[in-house]
Amino acid sequence: APAQDLSGRRVVVSAGGTREPLDPVRFLGNRSSGKQGIAIASAARQRGADVTLIAANLEVAEPDGCDIRRVSTALELRDAVVDAAHGADVVIMAAAVADYRPASVSAGKIKKDRSDAGLTLELVRNPDILAELGHAPHGSTVLVGFAAETEADEGRLLELGRAKLDAKGADLLVVNRVGWHEGFATDENAVVIIGTGGEIVARAHGSKLSVAHAILDVVVADATTAAKA
Ligand code: PMT
Repeated sequence: APAQDLSGRRVVVSAGGTREPLDPVRFLGNRSSGKQGIAIASAARQRGADVTLIAANLEVAEPDGCDIRRVSTALELRDAVVDAAHGADVVIMAAAVADYRPASVSAGKIKKDRSDAGLTLELVRNPDILAELGHAPHGSTVLVGFAAETEADEGRLLELGRAKLDAKGADLLVVNRVGWHEGFATDENAVVIIGTGGEIVARAHGSKLSVAHAILDVVVADATTAAKA
């Protein structure tokens, strides 16, 4: 059994992908299955944590032993994360959150125009949940963000990660290269974890559960260092 190094700790994890409704039958979404976030929740449970999982449209089975709060849109995810984050020791934002939502949701199914004209959708910005938590005083809560980027070049990938870390005010950032066949919906993953100074703290690849444990190893080390400072 893994070390009980998160025993008595409260860990909040968001997983899955948000859906932004256009009308009663359609939405704008993304390909996140929830596998990576669920693996983090399961790994934290294995290490003794009390886990709250904010679950957005999971495509795989929910993990056992977690307090699960189901949401669908970015606005619902925001409310659930902000609520659960109060007094949490660790918050890990693995969910793929829509940056934009349709400016209005049609009450009825949107009809095809009689002409052959295309359709233009107007979108408005969603709140940035990680930035909201990161820029507010968050005491001893370790705030872990992800950066999902399609950049192939590792140097540029890390630059994008560092920019996101600064913009969002996270304590740790998991840089995750994604693409048609990488990151989203796969069983394996490969990440680079960077610290507040932008330095590489760890690299991990393999099953999403092994990547989850590698992320938690860094979180535990970070929290231990902070407690000694
Ligand atoms: O679910 P799987 O199929 O297993 O796939 C896993 C994954 C690839 C989705 C996951 O490992 C991952 O990379 N999650 C982050 C996806 C994402 O939305 O990244 P981003 O670079 O767009 O966002 C950066 C960070 O800000 C993320 O922590 C995100 O949760 C957060 N965010 C983004 C937008 C927003 N409006 N609010 C946020 O809090």
